[in-house]
Amino acid sequence: MNIDSKTKIYGLIGHPVGHSLSPLIHNTAFLDQKLNCIYDCFDVLPENIKDAVFGIKALGIMGVNVTVPYKEMVIPYLDFISDEAKLIGAVNTIKNNDGRLEGYNTDASGFIESLLEQGVEIRGKNVVILGAGGAARAIAVAFSLNDVNSITIANRTEGKAYNLYKYIKEKFRTECKYTSLDELIDFDNIDILINATSVGMFPNVNATPVDEKIIRKAKFIYDLIYNPKETLFLRYAKKYGIKNSNGLNMLINQANNSFKIWFGKNFNKNLIVNVLRKKEFIK
Ligand code: ATR
Repeated sequence: MNIDSKTKIYGLIGHPVGHSLSPLIHNTAFLDQKLNCIYDCFDVLPENIKDAVFGIKALGIMGVNVTVPYKEMVIPYLDFISDEAKLIGAVNTIKNNDGRLEGYNTDASGFIESLLEQGVEIRGKNVVILGAGGAARAIAVAFSLNDVNSITIANRTEGKAYNLYKYIKEKFRTECKYTSLDELIDFDNIDILINATSVGMFPNVNATPVDEKIIRKAKFIYDLIYNPKETLFLRYAKKYGIKNSNGLNMLINQANNSFKIWFGKNFNKNLIVNVLRKKEFIK
């Protein structure tokens, strides 16, 4: 890669950002498509987030991804928010369009694409989401936009499950319920069970958000976590022969959708998968 005075800058703003795979994904795509661009991480302290967003404009940075904890906080500083990002209440992609900062969300579309790629039917299905944070909200909105039959939000802190339930009820017609994690033992007919909590993530790899007895009831299991690539949650899915997915497909799809917003074209997903596999992020 030749970096010169014309190299365009892209990046990720978040806190922390040290373990992100986004630089590897986007720099591989830039090289592949011979784009004179570079992608770096910006670890921004909360008190500097407003300056950081204004800095995108001031420095002519062409685009950034936004991650935890800033996906909501950046919204007031942008000039335009897409309808989908408004519905989700979070922005994960900013495009600097000639000095106009545009906010988009590619998490929900990336998630749905990853299900479709794996042949999972969404319409009319009964979905249980574990967790009620930002990731759970993006997924709940994604399912609501794709005509599922019902969504159940299960969370350790029931008050937060209730807040997300209320959010979905206010914005969509989707049948929605909320519950504690333990009460899921009384639920049958779980078509898709998604872990949108951080339970099982490195380094706490021997934890699951719910008991094995709940996991075995599901017909498809999805863990948004990709480090480790096989969580205990997914090991239980395997044990019971349940089709399952980790979070890498969603990560690649959301990255590709950001790339599309910035450059108007897809990156080569197979190439990215191969690079991640070589680096042992994928089996
Ligand atoms: P994100 O934006 O990635 O969704 P978040 O907003 O911090 O991150 O949400 C993390 C989710 O993981 C929450 O649903 C959290 O549950 P609480 O609302 O009760 O905090 C869930 N979570 C984190 N640690 C957990 C644990 N040890 N057991 C159960 N749920 C946990």
